[in-house]
Amino acid sequence: MDIRIEKAEPHELKCKPDQNALGFGRYLTDHMFVMTYHADRGWHDAVIRKYQPFWLEPAAMVFHYGQAIFEGMKAFRGKDDQIRLFRPTANFERMNVSAARICMPSVPVADVLEALKQLLRLDQEWIPSAKGASLYIRPAMIATEPGLGVRPSKEYLFFIIKGPVGAYYPEGFNPVKIFVSDKYVRAVRGGVGEAKTAGNYAASIKAAVEAQQQGYTQVLWLDGIERRYVEEVGTSNIFFVIGDEVVTPSLSGSILPGITRDSALRLLRDWGLKVTERPTTIDEVIAAAKDGSLRESFGTGTAAVISPVGSLCYKGEQVIINGGKVGILSQRLFEELQSIQYGTRKDPYGWTVIV
Ligand code: COI
Repeated sequence: MDIRIEKAEPHELKCKPDQNALGFGRYLTDHMFVMTYHADRGWHDAVIRKYQPFWLEPAAMVFHYGQAIFEGMKAFRGKDDQIRLFRPTANFERMNVSAARICMPSVPVADVLEALKQLLRLDQEWIPSAKGASLYIRPAMIATEPGLGVRPSKEYLFFIIKGPVGAYYPEGFNPVKIFVSDKYVRAVRGGVGEAKTAGNYAASIKAAVEAQQQGYTQVLWLDGIERRYVEEVGTSNIFFVIGDEVVTPSLSGSILPGITRDSALRLLRDWGLKVTERPTTIDEVIAAAKDGSLRESFGTGTAAVISPVGSLCYKGEQVIINGGKVGILSQRLFEELQSIQYGTRKDPYGWTVIV
């Protein structure tokens, strides 16, 4: 793939933010990658150019019928000053699975990875070196053909934007309070819950707002049919340590197959722990919290990394997990993942890609 590079003029370059107060998703770098798709031409016009608005028709299909998918990945600056991506191919492959689910075209994985590397090299000064900070990368695809008939668009834009981030939650690496929603559901089997479509996140916002109004950081979703089985948290997959077993809901068809989830499973299994992916009911989790066998719980996600859960509120009752403190496994997983991502520990899995 030929990639045109149109660098921003020196006077157009933005000021970099304070690396120790980044928050999440507030800053965007100077450049972006864009390529265009037409059913008759395939992907074309690949360009790295200044971060700038798109011109889109009000009738562009994305605005009406929601053909929009995205990914979340990160680049890390190590102490050795090397830039590492974490499992980028897995993200682009998952994006193609999401694309297929809502009749969007697939992207050429090797080409977009190469485009991403070029983009990172151009904006390398944006990749923070502060502890725990990284460059969050957001590949996305939207339907751009104007038209009001409900059918797959014939035209799309694929783009990659990115920005320096710190911890996703204001709590940082500290336990979060989670509200278990039995009023709203996020997805049902056979729907689009396992694809990373924008619509899944739109569907989650009302429950998240209501939970936040009551002092909770996130929502834990139950299955859409029986509202019994635990699915995932708004921005991450979920794990429980019950007795000597580490449990996470199996990928039922309505759960996002997280790449951090997969990495955590691999690490936990390699540490010799008993790890089970199985249907997990909320009743089992609450009962385990009450009888003391729920030793810890944590979320896994690109943005959230490892996010310890300090309490769960279900049907008006609050259970505290591990005294509201970070659990041993959450801590170990967080440290191990970060060490691999920042290159302070050998990566025996081949997960990191040097830029
Ligand atoms: C990620 O972890 O990268 C996600 O996509 C979650 C996001 C919606 C913040």
